Amino acid sequence: MYSTKTFEEFKNKLLEISHLASSAAVLHWDLETYMPKKGAAARAKSLSSLAAVVHEKFTSPEFEKLLTELKGASDNGLLGEAEACIVREVWRDFEREKKLPKEFVEELSRVTAEAHHIWAEARRESDFSIFKPKLKKIVELKRKEAELVGYKGSPYSALVDAYEKGATAEELSVLFEELKDFLVPFLGKIKSSGRNIGREVLLGDYDIGRQKELSKKIAEKIGFDFEKGRLDESTHPFTANFNPEDVRITTRFDATDVFPAISSTVHEAGHALYEQGLLAEHFGTPLGESRSLGIHESQSRLWENLVGKSLPFWKYWYPRLQEIFPKPFRDLNIGDFYRAINCVQPSFIRTEADEVTYNLHVLLRFEIEKDLIEGTIEVADLPEIWNQKFEELFGLKVPNDAFGVLQDVHWSGGSIGYFPTYALGNLYAAQFYAAAKKQILNLEEEISLGHFEHLLEWLRKNIHVHGRFYSQDELVKKATGEKLNAAYFVEYLKGKFGSIYGI
Ligand code: CO
Repeated sequence: MYSTKTFEEFKNKLLEISHLASSAAVLHWDLETYMPKKGAAARAKSLSSLAAVVHEKFTSPEFEKLLTELKGASDNGLLGEAEACIVREVWRDFEREKKLPKEFVEELSRVTAEAHHIWAEARRESDFSIFKPKLKKIVELKRKEAELVGYKGSPYSALVDAYEKGATAEELSVLFEELKDFLVPFLGKIKSSGRNIGREVLLGDYDIGRQKELSKKIAEKIGFDFEKGRLDESTHPFTANFNPEDVRITTRFDATDVFPAISSTVHEAGHALYEQGLLAEHFGTPLGESRSLGIHESQSRLWENLVGKSLPFWKYWYPRLQEIFPKPFRDLNIGDFYRAINCVQPSFIRTEADEVTYNLHVLLRFEIEKDLIEGTIEVADLPEIWNQKFEELFGLKVPNDAFGVLQDVHWSGGSIGYFPTYALGNLYAAQFYAAAKKQILNLEEEISLGHFEHLLEWLRKNIHVHGRFYSQDELVKKATGEKLNAAYFVEYLKGKFGSIYGI
């Protein structure tokens, strides 16, 4: 029989699990930032020990008993709205985890741990055949995972669901086809526009200390709270959240180009604003967690691209940038600067892609992953399929596997179904931004004056504070009045790059 005491007990267990997970996150952040090299082996063991404790607590019979009891109470309408949401979300996570036998989870984690080095070597050597046997094994295991979890329609949906709850292969196909139908000819028009815009004018000699100062200034100005966070350096920028009052971001510095530091800082700050905007009182429950990876990426992309690469943003920041780095910016006008940071150049590497070609990189991976999991293509054929699809989309011949099928770390870690969340992030971002622009008076004028708080308030109110209370569909509908669609992103690209390239 359900009692409030049961719920309290359940919540305490959730809190305990969350504190353990936060501790692991601190260790992981340290590993990526300050840990001495020799600490690696022991740190890996600390982390796997903690992960085992978390897993054990989450799947313990006592926890299951409490959760099952509350699920029954919730099904009978005995819980309040907030409690019912907590139980619903935890139940979903629990159900998925329970369907995967211990031996399966162990095998997957062993295979992917081994695969990492092998993939790294294969990429170094630019030789797919080195990675092929391991990837074959991983794909086999992921096909099995889909069977264990269960699905309707495509088995790929079962894998996507781990990152973007509720998203299906069928819905993504419709969305991404629409995108592709626009992007491929649009890229063609840009290429034949006759406007040759390049990034060369941005290159120079940039003091790292000054880059760091500037990165902090920008993060702070757009709303990152340094009393509840830090900015550090790492090879691959990331955001680590321990709780809403301690969120860490990292960035990277390039002595010849200041823009990577700026854009990765703004990107990670976007993620961090979401984490800092979750309500501390809900820490430990789904009400205090981010909704999904796609929604998370929408926050980073919105700040990085729609704001951070816009003219209004630079109307405010460019004079400041010119002051900090007189060379080369004193002699470069803001228009040429704006065009250079937004130049479109089809390239082989996803992480270096501009706003127009980025989603094409994701679509390529989506199609390949879906076919692999559905079993219509096999691992052995990947380089050939990759290179052929790449040429169709980008009009470029892939020179070798390192620039092609081997470039991303995801598959070696078993993260199949993750890539679509990047494209979803871009689509959500454009739709959210269009709604914010409609609802906030003179938004872009405010931004050009350095007032970012109106936009942040809008994001807080419409997205951040809700945690996992609403599904992505409900969230986007409440915030923008419509379900997710590609039209806003398409309109955004047409407007921005249409004017940059005169098409
Ligand atoms: Co991101």
